[in-house]
Amino acid sequence: MSNGSLWNRLDQWTRLSRLSFPVPAHAKNLGYCLGGITLTGFVLLFLTGLILTQFFNPQPDLANRSVHYIAEQVAGGRFLRSFHYWTAEAVVLAMCAHLLRVFISGAYKAPRVLTWYFGTALFFTATMLSYFSGTVIKLDQEGSEAMVHYQAVLEVLGPIGSLMGSGLTDSVSMNVRMYTFHITLAPLLLIALIVGHFYLIHVFNISPLPRGPHSRLPQVPAAELTGTFTEHLWAITRFSLIFYGLVAMVAAIVQPPLGGEPSLEQTGVKPPWIYLWQYGIENFVGIIPGILYSSLVLLLLFLIVPMLDRGPSRDPKDRKGVLALGAVTFVVLLGLTLYAWLSPPQVHKGHEHGHGHPHGNTQEHSMDEMPGMGETKETPSGGPTHDADAPTGSSEEEHPAHEHEAPTR
Ligand code: HEM
Repeated sequence: MSNGSLWNRLDQWTRLSRLSFPVPAHAKNLGYCLGGITLTGFVLLFLTGLILTQFFNPQPDLANRSVHYIAEQVAGGRFLRSFHYWTAEAVVLAMCAHLLRVFISGAYKAPRVLTWYFGTALFFTATMLSYFSGTVIKLDQEGSEAMVHYQAVLEVLGPIGSLMGSGLTDSVSMNVRMYTFHITLAPLLLIALIVGHFYLIHVFNISPLPRGPHSRLPQVPAAELTGTFTEHLWAITRFSLIFYGLVAMVAAIVQPPLGGEPSLEQTGVKPPWIYLWQYGIENFVGIIPGILYSSLVLLLLFLIVPMLDRGPSRDPKDRKGVLALGAVTFVVLLGLTLYAWLSPPQVHKGHEHGHGHPHGNTQEHSMDEMPGMGETKETPSGGPTHDADAPTGSSEEEHPAHEHEAPTR
């Protein structure tokens, strides 16, 4: 069977040829493939995360040990964890580059305002929810103190905060809940937002170039759509192979940071680079303004961009005001990041009622009192075991505990 007839047969069953609908020729340029490169990264995170879930134990007293177990003893686990980590960094970078391209080329203008707002929701979901929850659950000192900050923010969110925090139940520890959020609700939210984002991109097609004959038009005229969506997809595939190929090389060489078991003392350990600007603000005004108010200001800036810049022109020389606002925001974020990076670690003050506990409760508790935490013992083979399934307060007599097989060595 010739290639042609094989393709015809496949097309009869799948209608894949319908993907060759017209798009602007510049959709093949790197700047217009950054969204697709970001999406490819999400798929890689999903696949690697799926394997990691087979080995990771989120119970507060085992979480950190099980990440060490993955990195040190599971076959291929060292690379797998490293690739998951570095791909997350790469996705944040690709998404920021995509956002910058959209901003500089004025692609948020009508009729793509809602596409921008879906993008805004994606940005905050990816950085403040997915990435954040991923950095906490390993429960080293950094993850543990991030949990304390998270609980301090929940305390000022009233009933919603209490539902999201340890006020809801004593039966499941906060780290287990953070983990289930990381692997279920956060990806579902991302998928729903990506579906909305892509639907709108399909409806309005890729925006015209910011300079040239179409820069003031809402869309490239149909007669001048000289590229195809399949060409756009091939370009994304080529760029992604190069980009994530490099990420794989970095992952093979550079191991992601991972501390040991956390101490109950706060040390002011610094967060991952994407939150350093907020850590810088916390140095001056504490946890709530540093995390909550600063995020709201950033969100507000995203929301007002299409309102401030409403004219039809996408040409940067006609949009000096909004581009200056973007540049000032960027410089402030960069300045705060550098300041936080260079300044010595500092323990930050939270809400007046205390900071919450790293692993679950808002009062001071010892590790053994944490919800869902039982005694941890060494097995003859050296791995930790844990009677983990009993809620707090249950006794051996009431609930015969299962010997929970944790990572064996
Ligand atoms: C999870 C993160 C994101 C993914 C997977 C994603 C994906 C995409 C893709 C595939 C495109 C079409 C091709 C391209 O322009 O690259 C696109 C376009 C667009 N995105 Fe995103 N995006 C994400 C985040 C964002 C963010 C953070 C914003 C801004 C706040 C944004 C705003 C837009 C806009 C306005 C367009 C239309 C661009 C045009 O027509 O030229 N996106 N996105």
